[in-house]
Amino acid sequence: MPTNRQWILSARPQELVTPDVLQLADSPLPALADGQALARVKYLSIDPTMRAWMADIPQYMPPVQLGEVMRALGLAEVVESRHPSYKKGDKLLGLTGLQEYVLLTGNEPYPFQKIPSIPFLSDVNFLGTLGMNGMTAYFGLLEVGKPKSGETLVVSAAAGATGSIVGQIGKIHGCRVIGIVGSDEKCKWIKDELGFDVAINYKNAGWKQQLAAATPQGVDINFENVGGEIMDAVLDRMNLHGRVVLCGLISGYTHQDAALSSFVRVLIKRLRVEGFIIFDHAARFMDAGKDLAMWKMTGRIKDRQTIVKGLDNAPQAINMLFSGANIGKLVVELQ
Ligand SMILES: NC(=O)c1ccc[n+]([C@@H]2O[C@H](COP(=O)([O-])OP(=O)(O)OC[C@H]3O[C@@H](n4cnc5c(N)ncnc54)[C@H](OP(=O)(O)O)[C@@H]3O)[C@@H](O)[C@H]2O)c1
Repeated sequence: MPTNRQWILSARPQELVTPDVLQLADSPLPALADGQALARVKYLSIDPTMRAWMADIPQYMPPVQLGEVMRALGLAEVVESRHPSYKKGDKLLGLTGLQEYVLLTGNEPYPFQKIPSIPFLSDVNFLGTLGMNGMTAYFGLLEVGKPKSGETLVVSAAAGATGSIVGQIGKIHGCRVIGIVGSDEKCKWIKDELGFDVAINYKNAGWKQQLAAATPQGVDINFENVGGEIMDAVLDRMNLHGRVVLCGLISGYTHQDAALSSFVRVLIKRLRVEGFIIFDHAARFMDAGKDLAMWKMTGRIKDRQTIVKGLDNAPQAINMLFSGANIGKLVVELQ
């Protein structure tokens, strides 16, 4: 009987994902009933939020329960269908879970989307630039950050799946864009290939001075992906009525971050600090998708993927997000 290999959440992580946290299990694939379809997962999106989903803490979705298949976004192709809306070969985007196959009923709490076949766009683009990261960059910057031409935008985790798109949308909207990243290779990519005005490696001594030198007019928008010391340094540079787009706080996902010492700037500079979760904008994904696809196809947005091969390597892939081992979108490709 064919089986489905699945990563099961077996323990809550303390810091990184250790071998006891996820365990690989083989479960039999059931014969399809009427109204069901079976899709084979091709790519898994590896996202920082997965670390939060593993923890029993208050969050925007219920945490994954021990014994459940680990939640993950993915792209899957229908291999067999007895459901009127799905046919063999359809490519679907949704919460596939960290497994080889996903059984679909059409009544999933978070519905799967069919992805179209568009020239110049690959399957993995629908997980990154045209997927959750592109949408997050688009709505976070344009709806929350409200950039104006000539303003200074600082983006942290700027060579990641989200940050790299934020910076490029900022350039399209006429901003001066500064990216903060964790390696010289990442600096080179965002500056030379993506067109950021300045790239700063926060692992180099003197990076805060570089940030000050790069923002002589101060900072109007902080697109915050990291938190902690990086957010503190950027807050310190914010202009009157600046906007802080609170997208993520990855430096605190695996351990407790130090408290912000520059929070008083929110008061003094009358900043607007707004958190957002991308699913709140789901009704308008189509509109954003059109812009992002056009920018991607016309070369105004460039992207890159870090591809880890094999379901077996998914747990290590999650940890790569926290060591900064990815450039651009991190995905696991299933054989
Ligand atoms: N609000 C939403 O709806 C939403 C949606 C998607 C993502 N997000 C958030 O957006 C952020 C980026 O997510 P992503 O999926 O695009 O991941 P990503 O940026 O592709 O990967 C994470 C990057 O974060 C950086 N990082 C990790 N730990 C760090 C630390 N302690 N200090 C500084 N930088 C660190 C690393 O880059 P370096 O090498 O540069 O350190 C790493 O490559 C995350 O905070 C995520 O939670 C939010």
